[in-house]
Amino acid sequence: SNYTEEELYRPRFHFTPKENWMNDPNGLYYLNGSYHMFFQYYPSSTVWGPMHWGHAISSDLIKWKELPIALYPDEKGYIFSGSAVVDVNNTSGFRKGEIAPVIAIFTYHDPKIEKEGKINYQSQGIAYSLDEGLTWTKYTENPVIKNPGIKDFRDPKVFRDTINNQWVLVLAAGNKSMFYRSINLIDWEYLSDFGEGIGAHGGVWECPDFFSLTVDGTDEVKWVLIQSLVSGGPNGGSGTQYFVGDFDGKTFSLDSSFKNDLNLEKVFWIDNGRDNYAGVTWSNIPEADGRKLFLGWMSNWEYAEKVPTHKWRSSMTIPRELILVKTDNHYRIESKPVKEVNKYFSTSIIKANLIIDKEAILANNSEIDFSSLDIKFKIKNITDDTYTFSLYNSIGDSINFGINNKEKNFFLDRTKSGNLSFSDKFAPNISTAIFKESCKNVDVRVLLDKTSIEIFYNNGKTVMTEIFFLQQPIESFSVKSDKFNFEIENLIINQFGI
Ligand code: FRU
Repeated sequence: SNYTEEELYRPRFHFTPKENWMNDPNGLYYLNGSYHMFFQYYPSSTVWGPMHWGHAISSDLIKWKELPIALYPDEKGYIFSGSAVVDVNNTSGFRKGEIAPVIAIFTYHDPKIEKEGKINYQSQGIAYSLDEGLTWTKYTENPVIKNPGIKDFRDPKVFRDTINNQWVLVLAAGNKSMFYRSINLIDWEYLSDFGEGIGAHGGVWECPDFFSLTVDGTDEVKWVLIQSLVSGGPNGGSGTQYFVGDFDGKTFSLDSSFKNDLNLEKVFWIDNGRDNYAGVTWSNIPEADGRKLFLGWMSNWEYAEKVPTHKWRSSMTIPRELILVKTDNHYRIESKPVKEVNKYFSTSIIKANLIIDKEAILANNSEIDFSSLDIKFKIKNITDDTYTFSLYNSIGDSINFGINNKEKNFFLDRTKSGNLSFSDKFAPNISTAIFKESCKNVDVRVLLDKTSIEIFYNNGKTVMTEIFFLQQPIESFSVKSDKFNFEIENLIINQFGI
């Protein structure tokens, strides 16, 4: 093709490392105007290798500046996923001077022990920063949590439990999550575990997150456990489920109505697409802001190391706000792109009311540049038909999505999305998100950024995120249905760049 990899595949409003391999977001915290993002990073190749923590900062969650690598592997092992907190009251005692220490807690993965054929190769270590996160010192007495004889024992996520005046840590341990407490972030005491026989277990659990959320529009507080699993996701491969319940300072227990829902539906996913994995939330967000901000890795272990970019590999999702809603006693998590993204777009196309007779081209590249877009519209009075939206180019590459109101699902179809040959796991199936009752009116928002599509149905009640690799840019946007006349209301296409 006539396009460079940068032109075709480098996203414009999603974070990618300048070069080489990246996976999970790590150590997300906010401090003095900066959102920090660390990430699993291998600086010597575009495939996974001895893990480091890469680092980037942003003042608005959208525009990132990559900084020097924060944590390097050492004689105790590779630096696997983990989290970071600002130790405002110096409970750790690491403070020197005025600035509050930032404490990172990560998994040490020791390849030497692994090679010996033993299972106790993962333990938890800490490092601290006295300059708000620019440079880090590893604690000399690491590990702070030794391996208790569990093979997969990793990805610690710490938060401040202000009710019980303690730090609480949750980590993934094979087929369950384990909870610990500490007063000083150094000495950890085991509390409880959760998850055996509950939820999806198609692969080991990884990268948990645990936090309280106020139910939207109420004063009710519930606890949410997010739990990624490496395989057995909603449409194959890696995926992220969640649980809603209560926490007494020691034990997480499912809410009874959520438990009933879980018995019926088996699992609730943060995202129904194939490319939102290992997502976790930012710590230390000011109370005045109050949002629960979430970021995922926009790939899937089924093919992550094979996707056709050669300078860098993989990107993060758009940061999202997680909202806990309660409808007729059912708790659900909704996600929305953070509002900060809006200021990077200018309105290009507004079509107030469109009556479509079976099919129509909604926009083409004489009107806009399709590479990075924010598309919004509503479909009204929909019948038991299929409504397919297509983003495509003249060589026949397309990414298709929409509503199948007869089969009752939202779908995302990358089976014709250009370059598919790099992995036979990438595009054999169309992803679906099943709903129960037929839809009448559906609200759709789509973020498109060269190689990714993030679809938010009905204000984020259902989300589908996937990546794709067209051989040429998108040129048109169309819709098609069996229905003779249907209505699209308020189509707004915002183009990246102001
Ligand atoms: C999830 C994961 C984590 C682990 C890290 C290693 O994608 O497998 O469990 O800490 O990646 O890079």
